[in-house]
Amino acid sequence: MIGERMLEALNKQINEELYSSYLYLSMSAWFDNIGLKGFANWMKVQSKEELGHAMKFYNYIISRGGKVRLHEIKAPPHEWQSPLHAFEETLKHEKHITECINKLVELAEEEKDRATFNMLQWFVDEQVEEEANDEEIIAKLKMIEGSNGIFMLDNQLAQRKYVEEVK
Ligand code: FEO
Repeated sequence: MIGERMLEALNKQINEELYSSYLYLSMSAWFDNIGLKGFANWMKVQSKEELGHAMKFYNYIISRGGKVRLHEIKAPPHEWQSPLHAFEETLKHEKHITECINKLVELAEEEKDRATFNMLQWFVDEQVEEEANDEEIIAKLKMIEGSNGIFMLDNQLAQRKYVEEVK
């Protein structure tokens, strides 16, 4: 069984991941509206991945005999000033998620909950990758500012495909 504090924190993280999914779906819709279909695809894949992250926590809680508690998901923003602004907000959000994961790791250590500590290592690695992906796209967006390069990047982001990770 998972301890009460750990369980509450894991349930809170389900909400954080579901909000991430909501946020990126909202960004996907915005990119579609401004005609950048490749960016919209990238964000839609990201949104699905976040749902997968929520399900990893969900499945883990159930596998340990804990109770899943779903909370209200707040509404995400609907508009951004530019593609660069949207990706800067994405990176800011991912840094917040990294902080959440680090706090969960600290709590698992405090509670001497080895199983949860081990499960969280996947998320520690995932956050490194997520921040790096956002930083790479931000760097490209800064490089092509004011040129037609945005359409080449749009084509590149159109190639991203969703890979199911949840077991
Ligand atoms: Fe689930 Fe993007 O962190």
